[in-house]
Amino acid sequence: MTAIEPNATVAVVGAGTMGRGIAQVALTAGHPVRLYDAAEGLAAEAVRAIGARLDRLVEKGTLAAAERDAARARLHPATGLDDLAGPALVIEAILEELPAKQKLFSELESVVPEDCLLATNTSSLSVTAVGGALRRPGRFVGLHFFNPAPLLPLVEVVRGAATDPAAADRAHATVAAWGKTPVRCADTPGFVVNRLARPFYAEAFRLHEERAADPATLDAVLRESGGFPMGPFELTDLIGQDVNEAVTRSVYESFFQDPKFRPSLAQRRLVQAGLLGRKSGRGWYDHAAGAERPLPHTAESCAAPGELALQGPLPIACAALRGMIEEAGIAISEKPGPGARGVDSGGFVLPGGTELSLTDGHRATVATGPRIHFDLALDYRTCDRIALAPSATAPEADVRAAIGLFQALGKRVSVMGDAPGLIVARTVAMLVDFAEDAVGRGIASPEDVDTAMRLGVNHPRGPLEWGRAVGAGWVRRVLGNLHTEYPDGRYAPSQPLLRRAAVEESLL
Ligand SMILES: NC(=O)c1ccc[n+]([C@@H]2O[C@H](COP(=O)([O-])OP(=O)(O)OC[C@H]3O[C@@H](n4cnc5c(N)ncnc54)[C@H](O)[C@@H]3O)[C@@H](O)[C@H]2O)c1
Repeated sequence: MTAIEPNATVAVVGAGTMGRGIAQVALTAGHPVRLYDAAEGLAAEAVRAIGARLDRLVEKGTLAAAERDAARARLHPATGLDDLAGPALVIEAILEELPAKQKLFSELESVVPEDCLLATNTSSLSVTAVGGALRRPGRFVGLHFFNPAPLLPLVEVVRGAATDPAAADRAHATVAAWGKTPVRCADTPGFVVNRLARPFYAEAFRLHEERAADPATLDAVLRESGGFPMGPFELTDLIGQDVNEAVTRSVYESFFQDPKFRPSLAQRRLVQAGLLGRKSGRGWYDHAAGAERPLPHTAESCAAPGELALQGPLPIACAALRGMIEEAGIAISEKPGPGARGVDSGGFVLPGGTELSLTDGHRATVATGPRIHFDLALDYRTCDRIALAPSATAPEADVRAAIGLFQALGKRVSVMGDAPGLIVARTVAMLVDFAEDAVGRGIASPEDVDTAMRLGVNHPRGPLEWGRAVGAGWVRRVLGNLHTEYPDGRYAPSQPLLRRAAVEESLL
């Protein structure tokens, strides 16, 4: 399917933050652009603001002065909906209210050409509902740009229940021709990125509520072990607690209060108290001038054990550790028999007899003996930090030996409370499950899911890629055990994940 003609007019309705950004994208792609806003004088002001942004691009040397002049000449404020100059595409970016958007599209339908594509930039409403009042909803799509639109590459192309596949194809091709990276998705609450990213925030908030670790430690472990560019506490302080919580609540309500999407009470309290993050001076952290950022828990230096036993094959998710330990000069002797808890759930045995293993989603404190769980890492070789959770019965000497072991591998160590699944493993298991579930339900293709999460929220790898790296069987085990620990349904593995794990097992 082909994009709209390069010289066809694009109209943008709503000249606020997003409308301006989207207008700039269409303009620099070469289109004549009409910008309309209901607030008097705002479209003209937005035209001036976009002109100033183009000036800055010329100063930075990323846009030629002649191109800037041509772009300025193609951009016009519109005085009303009947002044949109026969557009080939209208993108709406007005306030996030369903009746206002429905009314606008009903009015637009009678003034734009028959073959004009109609698109909404809604981030939380159903695309099907926004187009619900149209006489011909087939040409209606969602085009979900991210803020700031001129800089961020991802655009979710959302097909509503009544969208013609050809219209979605045309919108997709158009956005691709503008140099963006479009991903296709069905009309689902939060689309791909806002639906699939929920556990990244929720798991850390839950662990904090359970007093497993403080925000600084959870942020540091997710960054330095999980490879996420920012932890959830610092990221939501940047986004705004109110903005992040509104998305969570909207997705939760849209899923009929499914516990998988349950919002955080602690975050609710922040919002109620006006502790919104950087913009209000305080959120999870204090952002006042001169305020000191709390440090993550980092264990003091401990001696590494001289030797370790290994019982059963390590899960593939942490298989690299064996070679790393040997390279560090720590001898590993093999203890015969499978891992303590099944085929690929092997682990180390510390000198004092404590089992040291990758978390399996259970608490470490179990009746069968002392245990220390360590967390998942994006890459054990390159990560800077590892989290440990000792059982209540683990002898102090073995806790120190486990800390010393990871320090000997060049890692900082954060000791957490005995929380099932620790933080990276728990978060990743949920991200993988949400992604498998979305693909299984036809929300988006596997490739588009991974692209959306890498570009939309800067995750270090797509969730499905992560699932392949750790194995669906391990994810199923972690979630199954978390489901036993917290039987509220939140961690119940999805059918597509169970199917994937069964296929993986049958290939062994
Ligand atoms: N801000 C973001 O980060 C972001 C990201 C993705 C999507 N979105 C979505 O984009 C849309 C716009 O968000 P924003 O942040 O740009 O809002 P904004 O408040 O900055 O701008 C909205 C503009 O729409 C105008 N407007 C309101 N009703 C109108 C009408 N009936 N006709 C014409 N103009 C009207 C307002 O005067 C205002 O200038 C929303 O649907 C929002 O959910 C926002």
